[in-house]
Amino acid sequence: MHTSSPCTLLVNSQQHDLQLSAEVSLMQVLRNDLALNGPKYGCGLGQCGACTVLIDGMAARSCVVPAQGVQGRAITTLEGLGSGAQLHPAQQAFIDEQAAQCGYCLNGMIVMTVSLLTHTPDPTEDQIRSALSGNFCRCGTHVEIIRAVKRAAVLMQAPHRVSHDAP
Ligand code: FES
Ligand code: FES
Repeated sequence: MHTSSPCTLLVNSQQHDLQLSAEVSLMQVLRNDLALNGPKYGCGLGQCGACTVLIDGMAARSCVVPAQGVQGRAITTLEGLGSGAQLHPAQQAFIDEQAAQCGYCLNGMIVMTVSLLTHTPDPTEDQIRSALSGNFCRCGTHVEIIRAVKRAAVLMQAPHRVSHDAP
């Protein structure tokens, strides 16, 4: 029998007071309790990157993070980056470069891109490849994804530039 206990999570700047078992992962809470379906369920083992979120600005694989362990931390999902008319530059860059086929990996790719560019605003291609090396894309969209990360770097440094100015 799983016992549950109170758990307060700060997700996309909103506080959520929940009752959770010790075993439940952050990904399960985001998707099942908070209806945030940006993080995708891929492997469930911390190996594919589909479930990536930001925790205090750093990329983390939410399927292997116990929800109870991230109380008091700032959790950001794809939905918290931007949406609709207020897209994050990284989201816009992936659209501009049409860097998707099925799109299942894109949550992880975009969140990882934001994490990379926050800490390394002007990465080399090697740094981009290294940062994304643990994020799997089964459709083989890698060339477009790398172009999107380069475009995102330009847009994040000069967000006032219109997207067709980017490389
Ligand atoms: S679903 Fe979390 S790393 Fe694959
Ligand atoms: S676009 Fe399908 S897994 Fe990446």
